[in-house]
Amino acid sequence: MSKFNFWNWYAKWYDRFEGQRANRDIPLIKELAQFSLEDKVLDLGGGTGRVSEKIKDLVDEVIVADTSFGMLKEAAKKGLKTFSFAVLPLSFPDETFDKILLIKALHHFSYPEEYLKETYRMLKRGGALIIEDPDYDRWLIKISLTLVEKFLDPNVRGYTKSQIKNLLERSSFKNINIQRWRLGYFVKAVK
Ligand SMILES: C[S@@+](CC[C@H](N)C(=O)[O-])C[C@H]1O[C@@H](n2cnc3c(N)ncnc32)[C@H](O)[C@@H]1O
Repeated sequence: MSKFNFWNWYAKWYDRFEGQRANRDIPLIKELAQFSLEDKVLDLGGGTGRVSEKIKDLVDEVIVADTSFGMLKEAAKKGLKTFSFAVLPLSFPDETFDKILLIKALHHFSYPEEYLKETYRMLKRGGALIIEDPDYDRWLIKISLTLVEKFLDPNVRGYTKSQIKNLLERSSFKNINIQRWRLGYFVKAVK
């Protein structure tokens, strides 16, 4: 029996319900990533391409990678390059990308450390990983993730700022910079 994937079901409504509110993060993503026209960017857990759509003209190439076929279908409708996968490792060679984005996605992944190690492998030397995630140090987030989101997506698991820093250090990232943003945080880490 095939496993229910919440994101396949939600894909058609995602941009309409989340887009406008979520898009407040775009200026900060651009500021942290400092995109250049030569950049190859992987938007991992990039879903409908909400972020990729806003940065595609600033870089050489952006690829939206996701495990949800439904979400990627919406990204493809926007003319974005998509990459569908079910398990790690991803089939990109070592040191392929200048920037990797993990926006509002890591807390949905079942194997966070494996994913971070994989992003490290795929980043070029000096390349940057940008993460946006809910801040599990905050009670409101603890309640919302455990009581609401977990019912919709059983993989959901929040990380405090020190947990995310530890995970990144264990994956060999350097210059880990974490800043609070609304009810979450942004992280920039360098290979
Ligand atoms: C909240 S959405 C965020 C989408 C997009 N990054 C954004 O900010 O609009 C979370 C995304 O993570 C994806 N996802 C969940 N588990 C995943 C996994 N193990 N690997 C890759 N993507 C995954 C979901 O399919 C969904 O598209």
